[in-house]
Amino acid sequence: MSDQTDLSFAAKNAPAEGVVVVLAEEGPKLTPSAQDLDKKAKGLLARAAGITGFKGKKDSSVDLLAPQGLKFARLVLAGTGKTSAYSAEDWLNLGGSLRGLLTGKESPSAHIFVETADGKIVPADVARFALGTVLRGYKFQKYKTKKPKKDGAGDANDRTLKKIVIHCSDPKAAARAFAADQAIAAGVTLARDLVNEPANVLGPAEFAARAKALTKLGVQVEVLGEQALKKLGMNALLAVGQGSDRPSYVVVMQWKGAGAKGGDPIAIVGKGVTFDTGGISLKPAAGMEDMKGDMAGAACVVGLMQALAQRKAKVNAVGIIGLVENMPSGRAQRPGDVVKAMSGQTIEVLNTDAEGRMVLADCLWYAQTRFKPKVLINLATLTGAVMVALGKEHAGIFSNNEELAARLMAAGLATGEKLWRLPLGPKYDKMIDSKVADMKNTGGKWGGSISAAQFLQRFIKDGTAWSHLDIAGTAMSSVDSEINRSWGSGFGVRLIDRLIGDHYEKR
Ligand code: BES
Ligand code: MN
Ligand code: ZN
Repeated sequence: MSDQTDLSFAAKNAPAEGVVVVLAEEGPKLTPSAQDLDKKAKGLLARAAGITGFKGKKDSSVDLLAPQGLKFARLVLAGTGKTSAYSAEDWLNLGGSLRGLLTGKESPSAHIFVETADGKIVPADVARFALGTVLRGYKFQKYKTKKPKKDGAGDANDRTLKKIVIHCSDPKAAARAFAADQAIAAGVTLARDLVNEPANVLGPAEFAARAKALTKLGVQVEVLGEQALKKLGMNALLAVGQGSDRPSYVVVMQWKGAGAKGGDPIAIVGKGVTFDTGGISLKPAAGMEDMKGDMAGAACVVGLMQALAQRKAKVNAVGIIGLVENMPSGRAQRPGDVVKAMSGQTIEVLNTDAEGRMVLADCLWYAQTRFKPKVLINLATLTGAVMVALGKEHAGIFSNNEELAARLMAAGLATGEKLWRLPLGPKYDKMIDSKVADMKNTGGKWGGSISAAQFLQRFIKDGTAWSHLDIAGTAMSSVDSEINRSWGSGFGVRLIDRLIGDHYEKR
């Protein structure tokens, strides 16, 4: 669920109440607003800083009850380190960590004075800071039936916080800059909600319905049912879903923000396995619950399309998601089965747990034949092996195009959604040759993320600039960060939005 805390921007001299947060740079060098407040509090801030040894370092703070005579309840002096070296990501993370500081402060409102020691900061950075506070405020608690506790730092405790006011030198410009960030925040929130939702509630049909809801933002949404998928020849995708009582879907979302002159679209494809039991090649019980998040690629695509529409991005973008549930049953596909994908190539199914690539094979082919995209990107929680290689810090990126790969890597550094390039090549491709069909769906023990990527590449036409992002380690079961404390991270929404903003949007 989104942060229910209201966010607004105000002038530096506007009245403040509740919790007041002012900043200090390394030294400590108090920002003008902090100095101002220090005067009003008769030197209390500087004295407290001295006594506690506060030096303005990043992640350090002094937390005080406001003395009598001041309008607010608490006073927090937060260190920023040296903001002269700050990137946009640093402002984002600062917003996140200060939002964290407010947790459990038992106040309905907080006022944060965002500025540097010289009093200056550009509106875009204020907006980025604000985005950080919103992302950190996210909590998925729709299934918590107990009221938040009044005392202690209970789970839902900081829901007492109803309002955050960000004070800055140009609140109008900051609010204007934040409009786009707000759309991005909403997109990340939607992606997180979808990933966190359990699979009994969110099957393929329910997921498709959530995507269909983008219609009200001006996105054209088509939901293709099994009849249509059969007609198209999407037998690889259908084979994965055939063991489930819940029917499979492909959803096509089109945002035409650049109009007819914008030309061919950029296409984003997402793996949407709403639950992955492994099928007949059943997964072990331990940790299987995590496989409710095996639709994180699709969740990213839906969150991204919503963000693009909400911020009215001047780009033609198409999002395509393959929604299936991978279950064992009397109707499930068997190891050894051979299926013919939409491209006409045949696949020997050696392991029914290597299902994501079969879903993507048909979605990628469909994307290229129908839309002739200038760029094609897919996101998928495709392999456990990518976590063995890269842990949870980087998603794996594979690409047949140097320019696209470089642009994606740069967007990763700019947003903090980092990518690490892994190789493709003919020797790896050989690993998936099959004796009975054109290819098999697993490549053996070694380099599992690479042979999976090679499989996908067999469905990429010559001339299509393509990247595959393996987000198994970054999209779910997330490690705590400054801007996320939820299981689902919403990984990829900010990354692809940034890529589009930097390179594929008309200005
Ligand atoms: N959805 C999994 C990959 C995954 C594993 C994502 C753990 C997130 C966390 C995928 O469908 C899968 O099962 N891959 C297999 C491939 C193997 C059978 C070739 C894997 O990684 O073990
Ligand atoms: Mn699997
Ligand atoms: Zn899977």
